[in-house]
Amino acid sequence: MRVILLGPQGAGKGTQAQRLAEKVGATHISTGDIVRAEIKSGSELGKRVQDYNDRGELVPDEIIVEMAKPYLDDADSWLLDGFPRNEAQAKALDKALEDIGEGLDAVIALEAPDDALVERLSGRRQSQATGKIYHVQFDPPPENGDDPGPFVQRDDDSEDSIRRRLEIYHDQTEPLKDFYAERGLLVTVDAEQEIPEVTNDILGAVGTEEDA
Ligand code: AP5
Ligand code: MG
Repeated sequence: MRVILLGPQGAGKGTQAQRLAEKVGATHISTGDIVRAEIKSGSELGKRVQDYNDRGELVPDEIIVEMAKPYLDDADSWLLDGFPRNEAQAKALDKALEDIGEGLDAVIALEAPDDALVERLSGRRQSQATGKIYHVQFDPPPENGDDPGPFVQRDDDSEDSIRRRLEIYHDQTEPLKDFYAERGLLVTVDAEQEIPEVTNDILGAVGTEEDA
C-alpha cells in the first residue's frame, strides 16, 4: 500500500496515519516527525531546519526531499503524512517511485474548516515516550499509565506559526488536490467527523473494509 495523506494542519494526518499503520501494517512516514527528530538530535542539519519549523515555514525542497528519500526507499508499504507539500515535492516523489518501479494507490484529502483546525492544534499534546498524538478534550491521554508521557505541546503550535502554516497550506499544498485528481487518485474524506469514523472512511477508500 502506498498512500498519501493530504490535508491542512490539524486535519488529523498524524492521528489517522498512526491508527492506519497499526491496522494495515504499513509504515507511517511523517516528514514533520523526521524534522523534529533531527532538531532534537542537535545535529548540524537539525540546526539548519529548526528555524523553518518553529516559524511554520516549509523546509527548502532539496533538504526535505533528501531527508524523506531513505524512508521511501526503505519501506515497501507506507502512509505518507506531510509530504509532498507542493508541486516540486510531488514531482520528486514521482521520480523516487519511478526509480523503484512502484506507483501510488491513493491520495486521501482530509477536509475540515480552518476554525476547527485552530481549536485542534491549540489542544494537541504529543507523548514524549511513545510519539502518540492526543487532544486535551477530543482524545485525552490515558490515565491508566498505558502511555507514561509526558504530554507536551509542539514548539510550532503557537498562534503565529499555526496561522502561517495554514496560509502556506492553502497557497502551496491545496493545489495538489487537482494535481492528483487529474490522475484519478484523489479521494476526499470529511475530517470533521469523530476520529474512528474518519479512519473507517479512509479504510473504505483504500479498499480495506476492516472496522475501525
Ligand atoms: P508537520 O509535523 O507535518 O505539521 P503540520 O503540517 O503543521 O501538520 P500537523 O502535524 O499540525 O497536523 P496533522 O494533520 O498531523 O494533525 P494531528 O493528527 O496532529 O510539519 C511540521 C513542520 O515540519 C512544517 O511546518 C515544516 O517546517 C516542516 N515540514 C514537514 N514536512 C515538510 C515538507 N514536506 N516540506 C517542507 N517542510 C516540511 O491532529 C491535530 C489535533 O487534532 C490532535 O490533538 C488530534 O488529537 C486532534 N484530532 C485529530 N483528528 C480529530 C478529529 N477527527 N476530531 C477531533 N480532534 C481530532
Ligand atoms: Mg502531523
